[in-house]
Amino acid sequence: MLLTTTQLFHQCYSRYAIPAVNVFFMEEIHGLFSAAQEANAPFIVQTTPFARDYANADMLLSMIGAASRIYPDVTFAIHMDHGFEAHIFDAIEKGGYTSVMIDASHDPFEKNVERTREVVTRAHAKNISVEAELGVLAGVEDDLAVDAAHSFYTNPQQVEDFVKATDCDSLAIAVGTSHGAYKFSGGQGLQFQILEEIQKRLPGFPLVLHGGSNVIPEVVERINAAGGTLKTDAKGVQEDEIRQAIPLGICKINIATDTRLLWTMVNREFFRDKPDEFAPTTPGKIFMEEYKKFMLKKFDLFGCTGKA
Ligand code: 13P
Ligand code: G3H
Ligand code: NA
Ligand code: ZN
Repeated sequence: MLLTTTQLFHQCYSRYAIPAVNVFFMEEIHGLFSAAQEANAPFIVQTTPFARDYANADMLLSMIGAASRIYPDVTFAIHMDHGFEAHIFDAIEKGGYTSVMIDASHDPFEKNVERTREVVTRAHAKNISVEAELGVLAGVEDDLAVDAAHSFYTNPQQVEDFVKATDCDSLAIAVGTSHGAYKFSGGQGLQFQILEEIQKRLPGFPLVLHGGSNVIPEVVERINAAGGTLKTDAKGVQEDEIRQAIPLGICKINIATDTRLLWTMVNREFFRDKPDEFAPTTPGKIFMEEYKKFMLKKFDLFGCTGKA
């Protein structure tokens, strides 16, 4: 069943979180939908503007549509991740998404409000939910890089005014995570005090955690053992941090880096061990299985197994 993120968050608030996974190609979509069907877990499949340019938006949405027929028992939302007006308005007009994110977090507060408000007005007219962002995450995300000096935590003093003025349906906050494989390089971790302050001011309102990958140490080690040169300070969000964040209102946790690392691990190991092979479908099959196993673990960790 295709739902809006608002509907999904209404069910999960403070009890479990929903993984929001970025997809770029077919094997990921199979892995995600088959895991969700097996676990009976709700999920959010999301595409960035970069993914839409890479695969073509029609291709991506058609594959997602096909997956929902191949795996008919799943409960999910289709979300545009880190959208700007051009992509969002195009998507609202053409349809296919039940939720969009307007990322105007790099703008000053007033400008962020103004841009978000316009997207909310147009999206709500078509029953599409809107995620907005306040605060700036560091890290590398598709073709956008933000260095630590230009990132900042969400200011809890601003969240009520922002949500009231924009009428957004969920709020992405910057509480210490960053995008990519090198979160917490300085050793700091999730800022629970800030998260608590935000939830106190927005009780019951769905919060979104970007940069939610775990950057599994074993996966990083296997990539490097198979010829990769990832830096050893690669680090992500820890499992106990996830468990602690859910009762504090985190409803949606974004994951992109972890599944990219899985793809890299599978393919590096495969071509290291089978240098005479050249069929993409053989490592592709291994990848789909690894992806599914990864998602089954995430559903358990986020508490959403059996909740679809
Ligand atoms: P990761 O880099 O932790 O996977 O975060 C992804 C993300 O926030 C996508 O919006
Ligand atoms: O925001 C979505 C991007 O695909 C995330 O990319 O995994 O490099 O952070 P990332
Ligand atoms: Na998002
Ligand atoms: Zn993000």
